[in-house]
Amino acid sequence: MSQFDYIKDIAKYGLENDQEKLLTVLNELIEHSKSTKKLNFAIQLQSILKDSFRLQKHNSLTKVGGDQYFSRLEDKEVSDLILEKITSDYTLSNIVIEDKVKLELEFFIEEHHRLDLLQQFNLPVSNKLLLHGPSGCGKTLASYVIAGELKKMMIVINLGAIVSSKLGETSKNLSKIFKKAALEDCIIFLDEFDSIGKIRDYSQDHGEMKRVVNTILQLFDYLPQSSIVIAATNQKDMLDDALLRRFDNIITFSLPTENEIKELVNLTLKDGNFAFKNKSEANKIIKDCKGLSYYSIQKTLINAIKKSLFATCGHSKSLITYIDTTIWKNLISIEKDSLNI
Ligand SMILES: Nc1ncnc2c1ncn2[C@@H]1O[C@H](COP(=O)(O)OP(=O)(O)OP(=O)(O)O)[C@@H](O)[C@H]1O
Ligand SMILES: [Mg+2]
Repeated sequence: MSQFDYIKDIAKYGLENDQEKLLTVLNELIEHSKSTKKLNFAIQLQSILKDSFRLQKHNSLTKVGGDQYFSRLEDKEVSDLILEKITSDYTLSNIVIEDKVKLELEFFIEEHHRLDLLQQFNLPVSNKLLLHGPSGCGKTLASYVIAGELKKMMIVINLGAIVSSKLGETSKNLSKIFKKAALEDCIIFLDEFDSIGKIRDYSQDHGEMKRVVNTILQLFDYLPQSSIVIAATNQKDMLDDALLRRFDNIITFSLPTENEIKELVNLTLKDGNFAFKNKSEANKIIKDCKGLSYYSIQKTLINAIKKSLFATCGHSKSLITYIDTTIWKNLISIEKDSLNI
């Protein structure tokens, strides 16, 4: 598209009062101006957009009374996209992660605990986090930990639903959810973030899909500093660079090492009701677990605990139930077979 085409579209959508399309075209024009080296023009346009966004936010906060505003947003389409709205009691002690990742999470949490201090010195706050890595390695859990540590509600958005829902409505609904989250001071969790990338593979109207991606880009660009967006994916490669660039922090989760598996086992057994009698046998099985996710290992261990409990319940005089290592070993080998590991 040439600059004239963008101007024609801007005139059209402006006169039709179609805010959403107007914003999309303005953003496309900003990108176009950047790529054709009209940087000054792009910056000016961007600041016009930012000013208008601030004004809109101010008006919506002052004009419409709190509760009334929330209830207006609680429409069916919005709730279709919201998978759940949760509060969380999880803390950093509930997750096993490598030290480097732990430090990153702690720093992110501290930034939001000390938001006032950062704002006092005009320092930017990281508020867009991408978590990626294999399935069952703690991405969703980490988002719960952040919500729990910051004592904030979290809105979990089902991005997978976008693909099947009416795409035309999606941009509008996402904007509503982001506004709602900012007003209610909730964290937004965009699970299966790669669905955004996958959308392009579907044989649906390409323009509409581009619009969804553009909306997300805009929402990220104008996200208030106190809002937090966490996105999770196990297919980072599906995301294009424009999206990846928007994140302040990208944190990688990995399959557990032998030490981390030991930590996971200790965490799972921390209540002290269950234990291994034969520690060296347990350590051998832990070595066998290599290649499995935290989720798979914990699942097999909990199943072994249940089976051991059923087998001994009523017969054992001890307060502790000992876990039958043969059962756990078998479950691990079945899990590995089913996953071709
Ligand atoms: N790093 C971890 N530390 C402790 N427990 C973990 C960890 N990772 C996973 N688990 C256990 O496995 C469960 C599932 O993990 P989680 O949902 O966080 O995985 P995920 O990385 O989001 O996977 P997916 O990509 O499939 O969504 C957790 O609720 C927890 O019980
Ligand atoms: Mg998950």
